[in-house]
Amino acid sequence: MEQIKRTKIVDLLKLDPAGEIVNVKGWVRSKRGNKNVSFIALNDGSTIKNIQIVVDSASFDESVLKPITTGACISVNGALVASQGQGQTMEINASEIQLYGEADPNVYPLQKKGHSLEFLREIAHLRPRTNTFSAVLRVRHAMAYAIHKYFNDRGFFYLHTPIVTASDCEGAGEMFQVTTLDLNAIPKTTEGGVDFANDFFGKATSLTVSGQLEGELGAMALGAIYTFGPTFRAENSNTPRHLAEFWMIEPEVAFNEIVENMDLAEDFLKYLIQYALDNCQDDLAFLNEMWDKELLERLDFVVKNKFIRLPYTEGIKILEEAIAGGHKFEFPVSWGIDLQSEHERYLVEKHFKCPVILTDYPKEIKAFYMKQNDDGKTVRAMDVLFPKIGEIIGGSQREEDYDKLKTRIEEMGIPMKDMWWYLDTRRFGSAPHSGFGLGFERLLLFVTGMGNIRDVIPFPRTPNNAEY
Ligand code: 4AD
Ligand code: MG
Repeated sequence: MEQIKRTKIVDLLKLDPAGEIVNVKGWVRSKRGNKNVSFIALNDGSTIKNIQIVVDSASFDESVLKPITTGACISVNGALVASQGQGQTMEINASEIQLYGEADPNVYPLQKKGHSLEFLREIAHLRPRTNTFSAVLRVRHAMAYAIHKYFNDRGFFYLHTPIVTASDCEGAGEMFQVTTLDLNAIPKTTEGGVDFANDFFGKATSLTVSGQLEGELGAMALGAIYTFGPTFRAENSNTPRHLAEFWMIEPEVAFNEIVENMDLAEDFLKYLIQYALDNCQDDLAFLNEMWDKELLERLDFVVKNKFIRLPYTEGIKILEEAIAGGHKFEFPVSWGIDLQSEHERYLVEKHFKCPVILTDYPKEIKAFYMKQNDDGKTVRAMDVLFPKIGEIIGGSQREEDYDKLKTRIEEMGIPMKDMWWYLDTRRFGSAPHSGFGLGFERLLLFVTGMGNIRDVIPFPRTPNNAEY
């Protein structure tokens, strides 16, 4: 076969189909035709769009065409011409075809169109070859790029916080332990506990649940930082919105107070959604058509409308009024509860019909590091609640007062000796500062319109599932 430089399909579709000889390589999505001519829909992952390959049976041996079935990988040389058929503007008249790898139709699992998402989860090693997952993965890439661009353009520095850590940032005790101890012969202390002094790091360590605490150290030196990395939570919640391994973006800014933190969160989310609308048009149009007919409308709405800002206490009043008016929730509502997804979604979808930033939560249901309000009951927390998702961002202004922070750490029974370095930021040059965490997969749920978080990450980790 003649060596011609490969062109990606995304670039081919921008060319003038004037008969130039080109090379494409990709995976066969389908083959149809009759004994005189075959039409191959080829996709190479560079775009949701296929290129049609027209094969004149008279020019090729039967043995070349037969193994070209759905899923096979081929390389094609041919003339790029305007299409005579409907459904595409251009096509390639094949002159040479090379088969790289066949995909036996008797066993290749991605035969017919319209497999269920549940079935595709069982073949997550192959699902990126479907239109839906390739679209989701391209949007995922675009969002990751846009996140770095947003912060870089605004003078934030990307800080790499550790994956292995000895501190539980959220204090929820949902950490995966990291150890090299022999689990069949665990060394014990004289008191009978595990002797972590003999472990790799000389102490008990885990996978991080959040990079925030180290992020705060960065903000108190560089002014404005963000983290973007994997985080791990051993919470046994089998829901469409929870993963055991997910990616989080955590900006942290010195001198920002809660209102500026809310402004940043709102601007950031709107920027990312607008970026997707501007740069992922083909993929979003496909996802809108295939999975969620209101997707584009919803994205547009969020970009164009100001988020509602509301104290938790007001939110609870609205929920209580809803109950008085006959609305049924599965979980009870009263001041002090941690809001359930159904409560968050009621506020956003039914009451305000708009994203909501809920602030000033009871201190008992929030982490130790949040700035305490003067009322003695609430803290300067802020959760951003989105339609279809519920909580997409969680953040706060941080307690910068050494004594108040230390007292809270003691009240909550957090081991002080593990926190000395964090408290040092409040001993030396303390300042008001704020930040938040955006769940990357929650953002992707919103932007792609997919309904289950397992379908917006290439290889999901959930309870009882760590395949691949
Ligand atoms: O609200 P969270 O727990 O906040 C923090 O971790 C803070 N340290 C963030 C900060 O202030 N820097 O988590 C932040 C976000 C949530 O709003 C949610 O979007 C996402 O992370 N998240 C999860 N996403 C998927 N699976 C899970 N199990 C998640 N838990 C939290
Ligand atoms: Mg939260």
